[in-house]
Amino acid sequence: MNRRDFLQSASAAALASTTIARAATPAVKPVRLGVIGAGSRGQEDLRQFLRVPGVSVEAICDIYPPRYEQVNRIAGKRVPATANHHELLARTDLDAILIASPVSLHAEHVIATAQTGRAIYGEKALGFTVEDNHNILAEVTRHKVLFQIGHEYRYAAWAQEAIRRVHAGDIGTPTHIYAYWHRNGDWRRAVPQPDPEGKLEHLINWRLYRETSGGLGTELGSHHIDMANWVFDEQPQSVIGTNSICRYHDGRTVGDNVQAVFSYSQGRRLVFSSITDNAKQGCELWIYGTEGSVQITIEDATFYYEKKRSNAPSADKADSKTVVERGVVTGASYSTAGEMPYRGPGEKVVTPTSEDPTLAAVRSFIGAVRGEHEIFADVHCGFRAAIACAVAHDAVFEENKMAIPGMRG
Ligand SMILES: NC(=O)c1ccc[n+]([C@@H]2O[C@H](COP(=O)([O-])OP(=O)(O)OC[C@H]3O[C@@H](n4cnc5c(N)ncnc54)[C@H](O)[C@@H]3O)[C@@H](O)[C@H]2O)c1
Repeated sequence: MNRRDFLQSASAAALASTTIARAATPAVKPVRLGVIGAGSRGQEDLRQFLRVPGVSVEAICDIYPPRYEQVNRIAGKRVPATANHHELLARTDLDAILIASPVSLHAEHVIATAQTGRAIYGEKALGFTVEDNHNILAEVTRHKVLFQIGHEYRYAAWAQEAIRRVHAGDIGTPTHIYAYWHRNGDWRRAVPQPDPEGKLEHLINWRLYRETSGGLGTELGSHHIDMANWVFDEQPQSVIGTNSICRYHDGRTVGDNVQAVFSYSQGRRLVFSSITDNAKQGCELWIYGTEGSVQITIEDATFYYEKKRSNAPSADKADSKTVVERGVVTGASYSTAGEMPYRGPGEKVVTPTSEDPTLAAVRSFIGAVRGEHEIFADVHCGFRAAIACAVAHDAVFEENKMAIPGMRG
């Protein structure tokens, strides 16, 4: 489709939707979606969006043409397509824009969209660099557009319930969060045709190169940083970390493993680890509190409680290994008792629904577009996680403690 056809189809679609609107009063207000960046995540988001009543996709923008047919298959119709996001944004028949381009392009795409005043569902991370994040926040705020960040675990029923209980004091004072995202795979995508100059390699495997990717820390860790920010109700103040290439010496310039410690106020910490050569730990986040722990995964949440014990030994509790002399209890200076973790099934969080988090997130976004409620994972939430990712991206290479700036103004 050429440029004129692309824009003409916009006017025709606008006319058609007006006619339909006049002919019948729809049960729900239609929301017409445009997509910028229709790759793997864009397509998954789109699949979920199309499950929400009243949502349709009316245009896509992607610089890789094979995406057009892939989207047509998902939509079940021919969706007007362009390689230029300004052309997509010039259409008059779009109510909301899904942005799922690579992170290094988020600032360009989000800011251009915010300037048109449309609602935005923006994939994480909010922005790539520190400056990108400040600029996106400023423009989204200046244009007063609705913006939801793709931190879909904020919409997982079990995560919401677990964190509600943590905030209510269920595990005492939460002090540490340990988050793992361990996989066994090279994180590489196949390049489907000869590519002598490596251009397609960089387009398809942008995640593996430092100039376009924050590596595992941003791509996976951003979700965990967001959850830690949610639990501690603030963003981290500094980060120290490291990364290396341990297994995949294939030309990538981001680590195939990363470890980072994020510091919050009052000495609280998030410890994040991601490796790509062993999947035993999987994806899980542990919140440790003074009276218990909760494990949150991408499927469920489970509480465990610390053993209740008294620090003051009494003569009554003396066993064969302790000696009571003149009222003083003595015993071995080290005992293995209590060193091993308490095991058992724990107490699984039960929720009325366990809807797919992405479906729950996009459904909620559409509700916000229809004016039914506010956005939970808003641009501030996106900023607090992404600014930490942007700084951690440098910190894991420099292996220095680096301060994470807060919002300006
Ligand atoms: N929320 C989540 O759980 C989740 C999961 C996966 C990915 N993501 C995020 O989604 C985003 C996309 O990731 P992905 O895995 O889909 O990547 P991808 O490479 O599969 O898709 C990105 C698409 O953007 C297109 N693109 C590149 N440059 C463009 C440009 N200038 N204009 C328009 N389109 C352009 C590419 O051709 C590609 O089709 C990233 O920010 C990633 O972090 C989020």
